[in-house]
Amino acid sequence: MAIQFAHEDGRRLKVVVVGCGNHAYRSIFPCFDYLAAEIVAVCDLDRARAQKYAQHFGAGAAYGSLKEALTGAKADAVVLSVGPKQHPDLACEALAAGLHVWMEKPPSVDVAGIDRMIAARNKSGKQVVVGFKKAFMPVTRRIKEALAGGAFGQTRTISGRFPLGFPEDGPKVLAEAKYTNWLGNGVHPLSFFVHLAGRPEGITVHRSKHGGAFIVMNFPSGATGCLHDAAGHSQSGAMERYEIVCEKGHLVCENNVRLTIHRPGAPFDYTRGCDFTLGGDETAAIVYDVQHTLSTLYNKAIFIQGFVQELEHFVACGLENKPPEIGTLEEARAVMECYEAALLSEGKPVRLDDLKQLRK
Ligand SMILES: NC(=O)c1ccc[n+]([C@@H]2O[C@H](COP(=O)([O-])OP(=O)(O)OC[C@H]3O[C@@H](n4cnc5c(N)ncnc54)[C@H](O)[C@@H]3O)[C@@H](O)[C@H]2O)c1
Repeated sequence: MAIQFAHEDGRRLKVVVVGCGNHAYRSIFPCFDYLAAEIVAVCDLDRARAQKYAQHFGAGAAYGSLKEALTGAKADAVVLSVGPKQHPDLACEALAAGLHVWMEKPPSVDVAGIDRMIAARNKSGKQVVVGFKKAFMPVTRRIKEALAGGAFGQTRTISGRFPLGFPEDGPKVLAEAKYTNWLGNGVHPLSFFVHLAGRPEGITVHRSKHGGAFIVMNFPSGATGCLHDAAGHSQSGAMERYEIVCEKGHLVCENNVRLTIHRPGAPFDYTRGCDFTLGGDETAAIVYDVQHTLSTLYNKAIFIQGFVQELEHFVACGLENKPPEIGTLEEARAVMECYEAALLSEGKPVRLDDLKQLRK
């Protein structure tokens, strides 16, 4: 990826950041230190806060609504860090004005919101990227490359663990477009599954009476996925773990920083082997881990979690007006289909193709 420091020359995408909230302060504005982009304006319904953010982050202007910003600022793109209820309307408004759109997760509260954005994007000819950071983080990129190399054969199972708290009253949550953690954070692991294995054919949720759940997915490739909603686990240690098991090896990702690739071909001798280091280095497991000694870019959370990468991909697509490869609205649609199907499951399998009918 192309890192461009603020003092370096080069083409820059002119961006309006919409939503001067907590997350934007912590994780979105800091990314602009490393992007080929310039924040020409910020915007928030809380105009006073927008003005403070503009001053603090060096934006040229502050506005109280997207409408005002679209009239007042000369921009190529908007970056939305607002919320799933507002993202589709704001995205459609910006696309209609001829701007590229990046948005934070969740992109919408339902599939219908994504469909509206797809229609607006297709009409505008502009680009849209959804910031599904799990698809952009370095460990996922490495897993994707390893699987695409073909040496592992077919993916058989993908499992993931993430504390979420799956709602008890799924159909009601969906009908009333309620904001729950299943929406706010469930889309994180779902986007990981969809990015690596594609759109599942069906989903079944087995929810514990006491909270927590196993969310089982079957993929067209024949792979099976299981997301363990580990609700209730302590926040004191690592929260996430993913494991991808293939025909000829497996990959384990812990805490989004430690990736172990158990390569194909490691020798195994059950009865006579007396050395666990059996075999040569060429088949031994590979471990990627982050050093926290030197002040490099890649040990900063905004790089480890994929924030800079998702925005860099957007900036590159915006500058060239070329379609994104990661975080597409089509990927977002599959994620939101999983979100809806899971809410409707109540212990029974739901086919994603049946969602339209079920939601009538
Ligand atoms: N990827 C991640 O790890 C991560 C982490 C936290 C939050 N998020 C996402 O970031 C987004 C923002 O979350 P947050 O915690 O900063 O919320 P927040 O409530 O702190 O900020 C949202 C801001 O948007 C403003 N806003 C609301 N409607 C608006 C409109 N129509 N026009 C302009 N501004 C408007 C609000 O006034 C508020 O300042 C959400 O989508 C959230 O899910 C992502």
